[in-house]
Amino acid sequence: MSQYQTVCEQLKQNPKTWLVTGVAGFIGSNLLETLLKLDQTVVGLDNFTTGHQHNLDEVQSLVNPEQWSNFKFYQGDIRNFEDCQTACAGVDYVLHQAALGSVPRSIADPITTNAANITGFLNMLVAARDAKVSSFTYAASSSTYGDHPALPKVEENIGKPLSPYAVTKYVNELYADVFARTYGFKAIGLRYFNVFGKRQDPNGAYAAVIPKWTAAMIAGDDVFINGDGETSRDFCFIENTVQANILAATASDEAKNQVYNVAVGDRTTLNDLFNSIKAALNENGVVYEKQPVYRDFRAGDVRHSQASIIKIQQHLSYIPQYKIIEGIKNAMPWYIDFQK
Ligand SMILES: NC(=O)c1ccc[n+]([C@@H]2O[C@H](COP(=O)([O-])OP(=O)(O)OC[C@H]3O[C@@H](n4cnc5c(N)ncnc54)[C@H](O)[C@@H]3O)[C@@H](O)[C@H]2O)c1
Repeated sequence: MSQYQTVCEQLKQNPKTWLVTGVAGFIGSNLLETLLKLDQTVVGLDNFTTGHQHNLDEVQSLVNPEQWSNFKFYQGDIRNFEDCQTACAGVDYVLHQAALGSVPRSIADPITTNAANITGFLNMLVAARDAKVSSFTYAASSSTYGDHPALPKVEENIGKPLSPYAVTKYVNELYADVFARTYGFKAIGLRYFNVFGKRQDPNGAYAAVIPKWTAAMIAGDDVFINGDGETSRDFCFIENTVQANILAATASDEAKNQVYNVAVGDRTTLNDLFNSIKAALNENGVVYEKQPVYRDFRAGDVRHSQASIIKIQQHLSYIPQYKIIEGIKNAMPWYIDFQK
């Protein structure tokens, strides 16, 4: 039995109270679904800036009524300290996901990104510290590697941030580290690498590449590739990310006050990604015959990204269960259904 299976069994026997911020978003709603299915009590906080009620409704449809009754939702804003205090009361484990994602959004509007991602983060740290939670796991980002050229990315070697978003995610790590030294606070940062899967929003100017292209192919629209298509990423299916969060929250104290890469350890080019999505849609009866349209590289984007996952394997016993192709095959029926 893997460590993840063991932890899940222990949680079922001895349920805990979790706070998931950003619970109406992509990653937050997937964490909610898994935790409720494990019969945990979950408090959720979201202000619906980029999250949706329909994500919560879908989770409700996937769990039984008793499990759903273990969920308490607060509509609130992490920029408001009192909302953070209310949400943290009586909580064992915090999974802090609320933030404004997207590099281009942060370039267009750094002030709003800073308020949610830095002020909101600090509010959550203080509220969680005062509530004496057992652990605080937060969404960090691979963007922290910035212009460091080495591949694969190893946690200790970071470069200069390439966007306001990357600055905010690095500041999260600095604050968490200072809280560990100053207050004995127990935090773990998870540097996510391009997470994808069901409930990732395909709409809007700042949609991530996999849902955006999938929606375009289903609609028969053009798919745009920024640059020559040889830009590469370590795409990580959502179930792997959920596993990392549950292992991090329940980890021993020695494994805390660290940051860990959360990825698969593979590298996929945008050209290969295009072909994989096209093939997976084809298997589901959606035929896309157009070629991609190439356009300029996008400001702030790093050229290549691939994680070393040795640290998280060693310290948290994380074993990614899904490679990119399996994840894409898993997610496609949801996207086809969602577009109907
Ligand atoms: N998806 C990825 O590939 C990826 C990669 C690296 C890091 N991350 C980080 O993971 C976290 C979750 O990302 P996601 O992909 O689920 O994005 P998402 O936009 O789907 O979810 C974020 C959620 O946070 C909520 N939120 C935003 N600002 C808030 C505020 N001020 N108060 C309360 N709620 C607020 C949004 O309404 C949304 O529901 C974010 O911190 C993001 O920066 C994601």
